[in-house]
Amino acid sequence: MNNRQLINGVEIPAIGYGTGMPSDEARTCVSEAIRTGYRLIDTAEMYHDETGVGQGIKDTKIPRNEIFISSKLNNPIRNYDETIAAFNQSLKDLQTDYLDLFLIHWPNPSDIRPNWEKRNAECWRALEDLYLQGKIRAIGVSNFWVHHLKALEKTQRVAPMVNQLLLAPGEKQEEVVAYCKQHNIQLEGYSPLGKGKIMNVDLLKQIADTNGKTPAQIALAWSMVHEFIPLPRSTKATRMKENYETLDVRLSAQQIDQIDQLDGVLGKSANPDLI
Ligand SMILES: NC(=O)c1ccc[n+]([C@@H]2O[C@H](COP(=O)([O-])OP(=O)(O)OC[C@H]3O[C@@H](n4cnc5c(N)ncnc54)[C@H](OP(=O)(O)O)[C@@H]3O)[C@@H](O)[C@H]2O)c1
Repeated sequence: MNNRQLINGVEIPAIGYGTGMPSDEARTCVSEAIRTGYRLIDTAEMYHDETGVGQGIKDTKIPRNEIFISSKLNNPIRNYDETIAAFNQSLKDLQTDYLDLFLIHWPNPSDIRPNWEKRNAECWRALEDLYLQGKIRAIGVSNFWVHHLKALEKTQRVAPMVNQLLLAPGEKQEEVVAYCKQHNIQLEGYSPLGKGKIMNVDLLKQIADTNGKTPAQIALAWSMVHEFIPLPRSTKATRMKENYETLDVRLSAQQIDQIDQLDGVLGKSANPDLI
């Protein structure tokens, strides 16, 4: 299964390539990732690499409609007009005239507290208008917990289609994951390799040995079993390939259960209201 379907019918690849690197490096890495097979590229205004990402996509000469480009609204943006301007800048930097997915990056940025609810409602209204105008194929949020989603529901005309969260073995974020599944909000998993720390977890090493795979592949297969879209980042071609080749890795029910029990092994996701 190489694609998943969002609530509005838009198809999204089942695994994506994560960025967040110097822009010139992003250019070469994104090209390499696309050559490897990735078709979903995750970037953000905050990463300052959209120009390199856009150029890397162009370099491959693959038609625009075959690549799923996702970016995120930066934290200092606080109202409707700023959101429209930031989105237009993202389009310019990415050298495209539409995005496949655009997310509010953080629900409660420290310099906007305590006005996060009003800020999210205003920024969301802009995302909704861009979506309704056809400039974004799907809209969503990132790092939103249940109370942030419920606050948005008070004014939203279009429900978020995606919530991107830290999801990796040891961090299942059960409450918000259950809420999103109940509301047909597709989950994307960032830091799906625990920022690289997953390689040192004994259980994952054991399962990897048993299955003839690597710990990274086991972690990513676990993400997919839970219907998360993992977004692994690597600057190395061999690892990009290793991570992408997870699509056909199978885990037994017992192995899934064992990985589910790893609660807290890599530390918990930051509280978005506190950092
Ligand atoms: N929405 C948000 O707030 C948010 C926050 C953080 C990240 N993200 C997104 O999620 C993506 C991934 O997150 P992340 O970079 O934090 O963590 P990650 O993908 O879990 O881990 C990346 C680290 O793992 C290493 N690695 C990758 N594949 C490997 C493999 N097969 N074997 C061994 N090591 C491997 C990489 O090193 P090498 O480069 O040396 O391979 C890198 O140091 C980001 O690129 C970004 O798109 C979103």
